Parts: sequence; C-alpha cells; structure tokens
Amino acid sequence: MNTIICDDSVNGLKKVSDNSVHLTFTSPPYNATVKYNSYSDDLSFDHYMSWLEDVFREVYRVTVSGGRCAINIDAIKKHTSNSSTEFRCCIYTHICNMMTKIGWLFRDEICWYKQNIGGKKASWGSWLSCSNPCTLRNHEYILIFCKDGWKLDGDKEQSDMTKEEFIVYTMSTWLVHTDNRHLANHPAIFPEELAKRIIKLYSYRDNVILDPFCGSGTVPYVAKLNGRRYIGVDIDKDYCEFASDRIDNANDIFEKNYIPRSQRISDSKLRKVDIDNEDMDLF
Ligand SMILES: C[S@@+](CC[C@H](N)C(=O)[O-])C[C@H]1O[C@@H](n2cnc3c(N)ncnc32)[C@H](O)[C@@H]1O
Repeated sequence: MNTIICDDSVNGLKKVSDNSVHLTFTSPPYNATVKYNSYSDDLSFDHYMSWLEDVFREVYRVTVSGGRCAINIDAIKKHTSNSSTEFRCCIYTHICNMMTKIGWLFRDEICWYKQNIGGKKASWGSWLSCSNPCTLRNHEYILIFCKDGWKLDGDKEQSDMTKEEFIVYTMSTWLVHTDNRHLANHPAIFPEELAKRIIKLYSYRDNVILDPFCGSGTVPYVAKLNGRRYIGVDIDKDYCEFASDRIDNANDIFEKNYIPRSQRISDSKLRKVDIDNEDMDLF
C-alpha cells in the first residue's frame, strides 16, 4: 500500500491482493503512436484490446465489491492493414464490451471538455468543403464502471466534497484544462483537477486508489493530497522515480481542512445558500 510499482501493469497488479482497491482511475496508452520513454504506442488493434482486457481483468480481481473503475480514453485511429476502412475508431464501445465481458457493470460516462484542441488538424483540402470534414477534438471521455453493484460501502462522514464541488462534479460534462507542464518529460499527464474530481466523487477518505498506468504519478499524488491511500504502476523507470519523488513531496494540506460531512451539511444549511441564485460555473 502507498507504493509505486515499476513493472508491466499485468505483472505489477499480481502483487496486489484480491478485493483491496476501492477506485481505479487511469488512462491507458491510446495506441495512437504517442512517444513514451519505454513503450511503443503502436500495437495492432486486436493485440491492443486483448492486452487491455488482461489489465482490467486484474483490476477487477483487486477491486472490492462496489468498487469503481474510471477509464479515460479518446477515439483513436484504428490500426488496420487497410486504413481507408476506418477513419476513427469508436473505442468506447470496444472498451464497454471488453469491460462487461470481464464482469464490470457500466455505470456512467463523463465528457471531459478540454477546450483546447488535441491531435492532428486534418484539413487536407477540406477548408469550407463538406466533401470530407473532420472534427477537431477538444473533448475526451471518462467511462465509469463498478463491480457487483452501484453502492460503495463506507462511513458517510468520510465523503469530503463540498456542496459546490458536488454540484459541479455530478454534471456529466466537465471543463478541465489540460496540464501542459510535461512533468518528467511525459507527453500525456492528467490535470490534477481531473484526478481530484474522480477521486472525491467516487471514493471515501482512506480508501485505496489505483492507477495501473500512473506515468508521472498524478493519481497517486492527488490521492495522497486528499487523504487516500494509493498504488501506482508504470513500466518506465524514470516516470516511476519522478512519481515517487512527487508523492514524497506532497503536502496534504487538504487533510488539515477536513470537516466531517454532517458538519458541512449543517453549516451550509445555516448559511442558507440558495444555489439557484448563485452565479456558478456548472462545468
Ligand atoms: C497516458 S499515460 C498515463 C499518464 C498519467 N495519467 C499521468 O498523469 O502522468 C500512459 C502510461 O502507461 C505507461 N505504460 C505503457 N505500457 C505499460 C505497461 N505495459 N505497463 C505499465 N505501464 C505502461 C506509459 O509509460 C505511460 O506513462
């Protein structure tokens, strides 16, 4: 517990006990030829999907009953011998089928609106033309699954969202800006805000949070900041070293400000805040 395992995900997860993790939040490599240190992000589609199945089967084994698994993914270009047959791959359906085959229940999906544009701009001769327009991607999805049932057992006092956070987090579209810091020279790090929202919405304090592709360590780092335990796995030694240092230096300031849930509910009643009249950004 509270560890970064430097290994291949499937091997690394074998070191984790059955039914010990409450929430997984992860972003697997997208198979989109991103340049990572020690991993070729360029498998055949079938190979890619069967590898993900092996990983999320292990994640299922280590997850407690009622536990959750949140997967961030974008629509990738399918790698086929005939690339003209598939322009973009609707990876979400493949992931849902793969997860339900393992036994996961589909729970929800969140549209992560990034505002800025990712990927290649495909405007080859298509400017102002309907012959073959292509959307520029400024969103990704987070697919949420759970094991056995919808409810996660735990002490309600250990939920730590404020009223304002709860209202924003339970909207299905989230505006969260990307993190362009390239920590550890990593090409695809999570924004800390994204990890914070998933962790606070889907887990109690002191729960165990897993990221089997933890890269620069954003998920374990934010888990520690918010009073959770963590397990991170990544195949790359440099990313793992960076993640461990980042976590060691995490200052859990939020812990000191923690107020039990019942106290926060009664405080907000006292303040008689009328949310309908508040000028709030619901994203
Ligand atoms: C999309 S990145 C995740 C980034 C992470 N969310 C962060 O905030 O830094 C995917 C990660 O998967 C790792 N990876 C690729 N193949 C792996 C494997 N077989 N086992 C474990 N990690 C792997 C890569 O090194 C990369 O850091």
